[in-house]
Amino acid sequence: MENTEDNKSMIDKIQKIKQELGNKLVILTHHYQRKEIVDLGDHKGDSFGLSQKAASDENAQYIVFCGVHFMAESAAILAKSHQTVQIPDLDAGCWMADMADAYLVEKAWNDVTAIVGQNRVTPLVYMNSDAYIKAHCGKNQGAVCTSSNAPKAFEWAFKQREKIFFFPDEHLGRNTGNHLGIPENEMIVWDPEKPLGGNTEQDIKQAKVFLWKGYCLVHTRFTTDDMDDMRKNFPDAKIVVHPECTQEVVKSSDAVGSTSFIVKYVADAPAGATIIIGTEINLIKRLVFEYPDKKILPLKDSLCPNMYKINLKNLLECLENIGKTNIITIEESIKKDAVIALENMLNL
Ligand code: 13P
Ligand code: SF4
Repeated sequence: MENTEDNKSMIDKIQKIKQELGNKLVILTHHYQRKEIVDLGDHKGDSFGLSQKAASDENAQYIVFCGVHFMAESAAILAKSHQTVQIPDLDAGCWMADMADAYLVEKAWNDVTAIVGQNRVTPLVYMNSDAYIKAHCGKNQGAVCTSSNAPKAFEWAFKQREKIFFFPDEHLGRNTGNHLGIPENEMIVWDPEKPLGGNTEQDIKQAKVFLWKGYCLVHTRFTTDDMDDMRKNFPDAKIVVHPECTQEVVKSSDAVGSTSFIVKYVADAPAGATIIIGTEINLIKRLVFEYPDKKILPLKDSLCPNMYKINLKNLLECLENIGKTNIITIEESIKKDAVIALENMLNL
């Protein structure tokens, strides 16, 4: 952030509003937010940690979510009736969440259950999805999961039924399946643009896990060639990556986990350690700043433009219009089913 008079004045105004509102206001910031936004927040975290905060803070009348739309929407699903959830920029979406369209998800679900039978598949949906998909999962006794609890959610889902339909991140789904030792040929990709997702009836009957063909453009940019190059230059370095990366990248890494896992990995590393990180660049920049005693490098620069849409200007505007603008609202009929899927996750 440039240290301009303009920025300083916006920060002063934000701090003043925070003081005036006291514990009526809570500002939640995702780890991918710019440093100046994280510095002004009350809690920073990964999407699971922030959803827990949103669900547990009953004092706050106003929740301002500095992250992307599906995160604020999940907070709004969990919010009590006296709370409002606002996002500084309503256009801060998520490409991956947009890859699972409600109509196509419903169609895929009907196709699969028509072949394998009702009550044989548990739907699991990554937090990175819109409320309609979460509601679809809730309605069908499924759950939400995040990158920090996906293995637990898979184990839970297999206790309910013998197969899982995982939406919308193919890579998180496959990496979790690999982690749990599910054979490669029992995980099939569902391409919504092809009849039966590009599979035969036999493939569908035999599969244990269906992986919706969605992905994150920020994380699938990392390759094993990037890792080889970095290892050549920094032979003692450890490489830690997010599970939205491809399985090749995850398998070649030293550690894999959610954004909070990555933060802890860096915090726990000894002074002087070299750590190469495969995730969004704003988190890495902040870690470089916070741990000057460690050498922290990005695997490659990869920015999430949606996360980057939140800035001092729109945060200030949001706070100046507290409880009035950019409010996330969800239809009651969607909320009642989506909350089941979210609560199933919180109870894991
Ligand atoms: P985390 O749940 O690990 O914070 O990840 C959210 C996300 O959108 C990663 O791209
Ligand atoms: Fe969505 Fe990827 Fe951005 Fe995360 S990093 S919010 S998955 S586009």
